[in-house]
Amino acid sequence: YSRAFSTSAALKTVIKNVTVIGGGLMGSGIAQVAAATGHNVTMVDETDEILSRSTAAIERSLGRIAKKKFADSEKAQSSYVSDAMSRIQISINPVAAAKKSDLVIEAIVENLEIKQKFFTTMDAAAPSHTIFASNTSSLSIGEIASATKRRDRFGGLHFFNPVPMMKLVEVVKTPETSTDTFQQLVNFGKALGKTTVECKDTPGFIVNRLLVPYMMEAVRMLERGDATAKDIDTAMKLGAGHPMGPFELADYVGLDTTRFIINGWAAKFPDNPLSNPVSCLTN
Ligand code: NAI
Repeated sequence: YSRAFSTSAALKTVIKNVTVIGGGLMGSGIAQVAAATGHNVTMVDETDEILSRSTAAIERSLGRIAKKKFADSEKAQSSYVSDAMSRIQISINPVAAAKKSDLVIEAIVENLEIKQKFFTTMDAAAPSHTIFASNTSSLSIGEIASATKRRDRFGGLHFFNPVPMMKLVEVVKTPETSTDTFQQLVNFGKALGKTTVECKDTPGFIVNRLLVPYMMEAVRMLERGDATAKDIDTAMKLGAGHPMGPFELADYVGLDTTRFIINGWAAKFPDNPLSNPVSCLTN
């Protein structure tokens, strides 16, 4: 009841204008889903070439979804695609984009210093009501937020690849994220048609915290010679009902990404055996 009378600027804002920074694999997926669910989206990247590749990929993906969604009406298919596309603008100027956004979602390279530098610049440019979120997989949201003066209006929105297909968004709350901001992020996740789960700002959040050690255990099992990679994958698919085995999953996530995550955790949590590096991924 009291929340209805909150004076917070963030709570009064219904997130409508969204800036997505990074038009790569994740950013283009987030931009697509946000536009398809009625948000005005500005997608930012470093060059126009990257952005035109991203918009072409978004258009193709919307087309595939439209074909399934409106199987019997070509007219409905094309208006679904053109409506969503009409809500996406592209820009190579994040500062200008930030000025009119309710929410900035960052999906750039997975590097703490680069993310911090980026958000410091955005903090100076964005209106005070604008909420910031990072899609980082393995970095601390609090450490990224510490580069800004709006730690109360900063949280994590962790999407999964491919964003249009995967139904989950992990909404991450740091000790400084305000209740209003957190609720706005949850509401935004739901407005995208996703199921949201809530997690504290802990390494790997929920999904990767469980999945990465599991994939590493599979590699250790292989390195000990206990079983072959093929048999481990078959075993987990048929014995545990997983759609992919751990090696297929590691390939899908990307061995470089998997290695980056495990090496980062090993450096940060040297005493936790779950994050011990595995030799075939260390170099
Ligand atoms: P990506 O390499 O496909 O895309 C990153 C994009 O950001 C590139 O297009 C790059 O040109 C652009 N970029 C880099 N620095 C920039 C800057 N300063 N300003 C504007 N654009 C910039 O990477 P991906 O896979 O989309 O990952 C992005 C983020 O999402 C990372 O933090 C990653 O950890 C996270 N993530 C990745 C998942 C995955 O399965 N790939 C899943 C969930 C989160």
